[in-house]
Amino acid sequence: RTNKIIAIDGYSSCGKSTLAKALAKKLGYLYVDSGAMYRAVTLYFIRNGVPLDDGRRVAEALDDIHIDFHIEPDRTWISLNGEDVSDEIRQMYVSDFVSEVSALRAVRKAMVAQQQRMGADKDIVMDGRDIGTTVFPDADLKLFMTADPKVRAERRFLELERKGENITLEEVFENLAHRDYIDTTRQESPLVRAADAIVLDNTDLNEQEQLQFVLDRL
Ligand code: C5P
Repeated sequence: RTNKIIAIDGYSSCGKSTLAKALAKKLGYLYVDSGAMYRAVTLYFIRNGVPLDDGRRVAEALDDIHIDFHIEPDRTWISLNGEDVSDEIRQMYVSDFVSEVSALRAVRKAMVAQQQRMGADKDIVMDGRDIGTTVFPDADLKLFMTADPKVRAERRFLELERKGENITLEEVFENLAHRDYIDTTRQESPLVRAADAIVLDNTDLNEQEQLQFVLDRL
């Protein structure tokens, strides 16, 4: 491999995607939001009532699912079987179910394969939960992000409120705790810091400081 890969993992709502986007822009790398892929799969499962305990139905669903990233000058969007689902996958009903769907081995296998293809020949920054451990164990730089859970919930709450979502801080806090619990305790590639990942706690760091923290380590 001659292309460069930066892997960013960490808990929910730690600012992974904000930092990943800033890095990608600064370095001219491609940014891939792996969580958006799991969210798109979850949206399909919800819409089609795919039972998580029915291996055959899950396999059929995965065969039918096609996810693409579309990079345009002003924005990057994600499609599920051709449909722009960028906004829909951020809705709370998807967030509430995504960790259950992401825990399935078959789902992870399919997503990891597609992620590895994307990183086969391009310089990329990818964020998620298992990028440094499973998707790209040989990444050039690995970050493990964390922040105070209350601060994370407040940041996400403000973001959702700005988008006009009718939601309470309590609900956001519960959703983050629920996802972190499932993500860290699941059998299949749980969220865990890779031995060679640099820890970045951004509770008290602004975006510029976080970007500089990473650039200093490249
Ligand atoms: O990154 P985001 O918070 O949008 O991810 C949504 C969910 O997708 C996570 O809570 C986790 O359950 C799952 N996910 C995962 N592996 C990844 C990225 C996301 O299991 N690499």
